[in-house]
Amino acid sequence: MSISRRELLLASAAGLLARPAGSAEKTAPKPFELSPLPTDLEMPVEGFVDEITPTESFFVRCHTYTPQVKMSNWKLTIDGLVEKPLTFTLDDLKKLPRAEMTAVLECAGNGRSFYEPHMSGAQWKFGGVGNARWAGVRLRDVLQKAGLKPGATQLLLDGADEPLGKMPDFQRTIEVRKALDPDTLLAWEMNGKPLTPEHGFPLRLVASGWAGDSWVKWLQHIEALDHDFDGFWMKTAYRHPSHPVAPGTAVDAKDLIPVTDLNVKSVIAMPGEWVKPGLVAVQGVAWSNGSPVAKVEISDDAGKSWKTAKLLGNGTKYGFRKWTYAWTATEGRHSLIARATDEAGRAQPMQEDWNPSGYLWNVAQPTSVLVSAQKPATPVVAPPAAGITAPEAYKAACMTCHDDHMMRQQRMTRAQWEKELDKMTGWGAPLSATDRPSIVDYLSSQFKP
Ligand code: HEC
Repeated sequence: MSISRRELLLASAAGLLARPAGSAEKTAPKPFELSPLPTDLEMPVEGFVDEITPTESFFVRCHTYTPQVKMSNWKLTIDGLVEKPLTFTLDDLKKLPRAEMTAVLECAGNGRSFYEPHMSGAQWKFGGVGNARWAGVRLRDVLQKAGLKPGATQLLLDGADEPLGKMPDFQRTIEVRKALDPDTLLAWEMNGKPLTPEHGFPLRLVASGWAGDSWVKWLQHIEALDHDFDGFWMKTAYRHPSHPVAPGTAVDAKDLIPVTDLNVKSVIAMPGEWVKPGLVAVQGVAWSNGSPVAKVEISDDAGKSWKTAKLLGNGTKYGFRKWTYAWTATEGRHSLIARATDEAGRAQPMQEDWNPSGYLWNVAQPTSVLVSAQKPATPVVAPPAAGITAPEAYKAACMTCHDDHMMRQQRMTRAQWEKELDKMTGWGAPLSATDRPSIVDYLSSQFKP
């Protein structure tokens, strides 16, 4: 293989990677539904060819129904431990110095479906992540107007979303340290346009370098506190062990800490499942928590040997960094792995670091590619085996707040389903003791590991 051909291929790969400006609407891959309502949408892996993820491809994660905020009665209130409680309209905020940030937004649970043993929750594969250009104001500029009192340690963030049934309201805190970081924004713009309702219109937090659980949407109230907040979404959800635990271990609550920083990670976008033999541009992106991506390595022999991929562009502190690698693809089935390392020296692990809620998956993961001259016939998908039909009581108890997309994506044991039913009954699912056994039978036989 001559060097010049290899160089040419890399150059054209770089060209391929850049979508012509304005063409995003036509070519951007559509996300697929994990759940229609509450809305959870995942970006397909083809989306990872773009450095900036088009909004229409961007993943969506909602714990409740998307609120339709009316600007005529929207305002942002800042109170609690402040010198001067204040309210802001969007126009008031726009009078402060504008701040812009290119940053990755990744759901804390992205990659959850890969953990073994499985756990409950949205079953993300790769695409619970995207990179956008956010614009708004620095949160610290807004806080300066109100004046934080000396004892303030946490900021409680609350959006316009309303809990369903008896579920606890989605409220999150961030430490004052993070709030004062110049890279933490209150954003009203995503990729040059106002936020869409699903992405938090009119205002959301941009906690650069942190997982999505802190990026509160539909923001309307910020309260300064002098203590840790013990609401469900801080005390119970979005926590992970402070030290590695063996897969399947129940972890004591005192050993769980809030999910904050993202892990270093990379995803292979191309060539997909099949490619012709020859020189192939393997392409994808990598990112980390604010420490720039230092290198991406590729292995085509199950991790025995590694070659360095070429990083494209200049990269941004918190954004996706595109990379490409010229791979000589020979006939047969291959397993490709990409592994990113950031400037802080953190590298993707080869093995899962299991945690009870399946957060922050970042294993350098093999993707299977078939190299053959002929495209293989699309395998005939066998129709699903006739399952037992859902008991009538199931529909009445479980299909009011959401439909069965929520259940169908799970792969849980009977014991896990029992726990899930306890959670849902606590949130208001009308489940009688008489109906419960038939529903557990149904769920644990249909949606099992
Ligand atoms: C009062 C409303 C309500 C009812 C009734 C309800 N659910 Fe849910 N359920 C929710 C909400 C809201 C979510 C999404 C939570 C999130 O995204 O964090 C959810 C999520 C889930 C999930 C995903 C895992 C998780 O815990 O987030 C499963 C599985 C599930 N429900 C099963 C059921 C079953 C089975 C029933 C019937 C016994 C049921 N639900 C009844 C509100 C409800």
